[in-house]
Amino acid sequence: MIDIHHHLIYGVDDGAQSQDMMYGMLRKAAENGIRHVIGSSHITPGVRRFPAEAYLEHLDEANAFCEREHLNLTVHPGSEIMWTDDTPRMLREGYVPTLDQTWNVLVEFMPDVKWDRMQGAARKLGNEGMTVIFAHIERYRVLRDIRKIAELKDSLGVIMQMNCGTVLKKSGFFDERWKRRVLDEGYIDLVATDAHNLGGRSCNLAACHEALAAMFDEEYADELCGGRQAELLGFGEA
Ligand SMILES: [Fe+2]
Repeated sequence: MIDIHHHLIYGVDDGAQSQDMMYGMLRKAAENGIRHVIGSSHITPGVRRFPAEAYLEHLDEANAFCEREHLNLTVHPGSEIMWTDDTPRMLREGYVPTLDQTWNVLVEFMPDVKWDRMQGAARKLGNEGMTVIFAHIERYRVLRDIRKIAELKDSLGVIMQMNCGTVLKKSGFFDERWKRRVLDEGYIDLVATDAHNLGGRSCNLAACHEALAAMFDEEYADELCGGRQAELLGFGEA
């Protein structure tokens, strides 16, 4: 299994707050059966300076820990980009980490983002040669309209990520109906944990895999929890 969205690098965002916490999160990821994880720390281009040095240092510490503890887990660099108007330029200039240094980017918006802005972001990033993954698409009001998801996928090739917590949580009638439909009809390309800690927002990919296998079948669960990610990022083994 592969997790492309995980805030385990400590001291750079609202995810892990200490080295110990990061180590705990690495153990938890390994226990979940994850073999590759991306340390996708929050970055807001042009608004907040990204502490790149601390990030890279802590990423090295994470991999050294995995090796020392024989966790069979590799931590790759990346970020979760809050879309700003400065994003394309700063990506081009190399200030924004892409997923494992590929041409794939994980992008988020404010929940009330307008359709034009979302579509514009996908188009501009596409023009930069990027493959765009939208993070936790269940959060955006505008994507309640499933035709909008279809349009982003069909015309701009956007890849859709849902959080494991959303798969696992039983919501109200309309939310459940939407979730069931986007999963059933193949609008979701992959799931990720978006883990921030060891408490309420901890790594839950194994439970999510189990839920997806029960809802659909083992094969579809495998695809959403690692197959698509492996294809996208070229990781050898899911
Ligand atoms: Fe996140």
